[in-house]
Amino acid sequence: MSYQVLARKWRPGDFSEVAGQEHVLKTLINALDKQRLHHAYLFTGTRGTGKTTLARILAKCFNCEQGVSATPCNVCGVCAEISEGRHLDLFEIDAASRTKVEDTRDLLDNVQFAPSRARFKVYLIDEVHMLSSHSFNALLKTLEEPPEHVKFLFATTDPQKLPVTILSRCLQFHLRNLGPKTIVKYLGPVLEKEQIECETDALWQIADAAAGSMRDALTLLDQAISYCQGRIKAEAVVEMLGIPPRQHVFALLRAMASGDLPGVLKVSRELAGQIPDYAQTLDSLLSTLHRLALAQAYADAIDNHRGDRGEILELAGKFSAEDLQLYYQIGARGREELALSGDARAAFEMLLLRMLVFSPEPAVTAAPSSETPSSGEPPLPPETRESQPAEPAFPSDSAPPWEEPAPSDPGPAPGQPAKSKPTANDSLVADFEQDPVVQTLVRNFSGTVLRDSVTTVQSRGSQ
Ligand SMILES: Nc1ncnc2c1ncn2[C@@H]1O[C@H](COP(=O)(O)OP(=O)(O)OP(=O)(O)O)[C@@H](O)[C@H]1O
Ligand SMILES: [Mg+2]
Ligand SMILES: [Zn+2]
Repeated sequence: MSYQVLARKWRPGDFSEVAGQEHVLKTLINALDKQRLHHAYLFTGTRGTGKTTLARILAKCFNCEQGVSATPCNVCGVCAEISEGRHLDLFEIDAASRTKVEDTRDLLDNVQFAPSRARFKVYLIDEVHMLSSHSFNALLKTLEEPPEHVKFLFATTDPQKLPVTILSRCLQFHLRNLGPKTIVKYLGPVLEKEQIECETDALWQIADAAAGSMRDALTLLDQAISYCQGRIKAEAVVEMLGIPPRQHVFALLRAMASGDLPGVLKVSRELAGQIPDYAQTLDSLLSTLHRLALAQAYADAIDNHRGDRGEILELAGKFSAEDLQLYYQIGARGREELALSGDARAAFEMLLLRMLVFSPEPAVTAAPSSETPSSGEPPLPPETRESQPAEPAFPSDSAPPWEEPAPSDPGPAPGQPAKSKPTANDSLVADFEQDPVVQTLVRNFSGTVLRDSVTTVQSRGSQ
């Protein structure tokens, strides 16, 4: 038999197999148990969350040979045919390819005839928002008072595009995105039945990458099975997904916490060596920033399902709440920039630099993290931090760490202060201060950001 992809093979056959969506299941099951059947149902939600799946189960509930119930038998001819999407009285229509009013009229002409075998004729219209406004108008009358033997099941990812006249004639069910926990819980038994071994961490990586869609999770699992050939390992999944290993994100944040610019760039260089998907990398960074902010606000909100709770709590103590908010905002806005940029690595590094430069504490002037003991203590209040002697992230008269050191530069003599001779920075500061545009901006600018930037440049130049 030909191979069937996991998402199709494991489509839930009844309500008990559906993951999540409890709020929808409860309403549907209660209504079916009490035989309170409506004639039009609308399922909304993002891709791969169970709209078509629930609609097909509902069609079985209506038409199972054992009678209308919330537990279709799944063995009778009708149930089997509906599961395979080939029952004569189940009309699955893709509205995206049948948008014209003529198509809708054809459909409505057939509505009047009795079902061929089943109790009800079920019209399952997918992506229903794609119908033209004429089509919707043609549908209104029948949708309000359809023949006894007709049920309409609509599904759409974009309910905003439906006319209110349609919405008000349907029972509406909004399917939620599935959380990583729900996805992991669902994938475990699937793997067991498929007799495939998988590391728990690999499953979490897949569940995170699926971003709420069970179909995406199952597709990624398919991909991981082919990629790994045997036991699915977290390392391989990370490689396959192009996401950075979690240690890299933590290393990046650790360097950022201590304003260690060379450290940040070093991690970025290591990351670049793995040719990551930078959008995914940024997403990982953002989701970790979110967890750090949560950890600061309410440590109990951080669970340990990824085995990193201790690390998160420790790191959370090293940032100020303002920094985390700012980094998150800069990162979230930067997603667009990343997509537009021709050089993803450069765009990603620009975002990291921006986070450091615009930090309320001039982070780029802090000492390198390699020399900073990781105390795990909460961050110092801003006044205390400002009183700390600011040091450049790397000495201004030596080459930055990502460049080869210039062989002609002997560096400061032992015991000599490194800043005794004029540096390139001094002239940079002088140029900066004398620039008429900068002077006008400083005079007129009411915010603090530019003033802080000038202070930062001045403090760097004065050392
Ligand atoms: N809630 C769920 N529980 C279990 N499996 C699910 C769930 N949602 C989706 N799936 C899996 O994903 C596959 C696709 O789901 P389904 O066709 O119901 O998605 P959909 O919401 O209709 O998506 P689309 O908007 O792309 O049409 C199913 O075959 C099933 O394997
Ligand atoms: Mg669908
Ligand atoms: Zn049945």
